This record gives sequence, structure tokens and C-alpha cells, in this order.
Amino acid sequence: MIKIGRGFYYNVYDLSNGRVLKTPRSRFGQISQLVIWYIFKPKILITELKRAPYKRKAIENEWEKTQRVIENIPHLIGHPTVISAYTYEQDKVIPLGNLYHILSEEQIKEKIDQYTDLTFEAWKYGVADTVFNFFLNIGMDKNGQLIFLDLNEFTQRKDEILFELKSLRFFRSPSFIRLPNGELKEYIRNKFEESFTKDNLDKYWNRK
Ligand SMILES: Nc1ncnc2c1ncn2[C@@H]1O[C@H](COP(=O)(O)OP(=O)(O)O)[C@@H](O)[C@H]1O
Ligand SMILES: [Mg+2]
Repeated sequence: MIKIGRGFYYNVYDLSNGRVLKTPRSRFGQISQLVIWYIFKPKILITELKRAPYKRKAIENEWEKTQRVIENIPHLIGHPTVISAYTYEQDKVIPLGNLYHILSEEQIKEKIDQYTDLTFEAWKYGVADTVFNFFLNIGMDKNGQLIFLDLNEFTQRKDEILFELKSLRFFRSPSFIRLPNGELKEYIRNKFEESFTKDNLDKYWNRK
């Protein structure tokens, strides 16, 4: 199996049948990932290393919630099948961050519009992504549909997502921060500002 991705929590392998296998990373893998990410930012590295034991527990503590999300919105998260605790298969997608280098600016704007629609669609089921890290955690499936590929960043509590909206969390995601200034970033800023509002949350939340 070829490894095609990894985050802090998961290793991701191509199953060569349109699906991927996602297995939790070992402690050692997680610690080395932090070192790789923050080697030139020692202050952040130390903070992250201190937090690591608590973060590690997150997957285990949140697993019940994750399974509820899987039952609730399988079509928006790549039809996961649980293999064993914390391990699952999912439709293979192209992460938006990889498309960024291939698509024209107009096409990326379309993807951003699809992304806000996807967010509303999840809200209708009472599920919300709390980190808005769209380049890393959103992908396009073989039908051209966007899905959430990261299952650990959801909440099913309206007060929690409202808190994130009020604090403009979407402007603090690495995906947004790292975008170079320019027309595309302004487009995304406006789109998020008009989309990720309390009014829209009230309009869509739990409407299915
Ligand atoms: N279904 C998928 N298809 C293709 N690549 C994926 C898929 N799921 C994850 N990846 C890749 O692996 C990375 C880590 O997966 P993710 O679920 O975000 O794990 P983590 O919780 O560790 O961040 C993603 O950012 C993406 O690049
Ligand atoms: Mg991720």
C-alpha cells in the first residue's frame, strides 16, 4: 500500500480501488510530525509538545462522536467504513490544496463556493467543521463533489460552532492565513464573511 498522506493523527494509504485506509499514527509518529512542522519555531514546538499527550487522547475520546457523525452524514465525508477502533476506509479524493496548483483562479473561486455550500449542507444535519482548514481537510471525489475528509474536527453542538463563528475562526485557519494577499484572498474573505454568520447558522442548523 502506498502512503499518500498524513496529518497529526492519521496515516493515509491508497487502497487502489478508489478508497483509502486511514490508520492512527503512533506516538513516535506524532512527536516526529510536530518536530518536522515546528523545527524552526521552537516556542511553538515546545507548546505543542506539552499539549501532545492531551491531543493524542482526542481521537479516542471523540471516537463515539465520530461514529455518530459517520452515521449522520456519510455522503458528505466519503462514505467511511470503520475497520476497527479509530481505523477507517474512505473514498479517495484530491485535497483542495493539491487542486490549488492545477486550477485557474476562477475555478478555485468555484471550489470555494462549493465549500461554503458543503458547510451549509452539514449544518442542516447538525454537524459543523470547527477549523475551516479547507486546503487540507476538504477534497474532491471522482464525481467532482467536495467532501470533508478529516473526521476529527467536527462538533454537533450549535453553541460550539457559534463560538467559532463569532471569533472568526475561519480567518485563523492555516489555509486562509497562508494564502498570498491578492484578489483570490479577498474573494475568499468576502465569501466567508457573508456565509459563516449566525443568521445562516440559524437558517440551516438541524433543518433535515
Ligand atoms: N480520503 C482521502 N483521499 C486522499 N487523501 C486523503 C484522504 N484523507 C486524507 N488524505 C490526506 O491525508 C492528510 C491527513 O488526513 P486527515 O484525515 O486530515 O488526518 P489528520 O486528522 O491527521 O489531519 C490530508 O490532509 C490529505 O492530504
Ligand atoms: Mg487533517
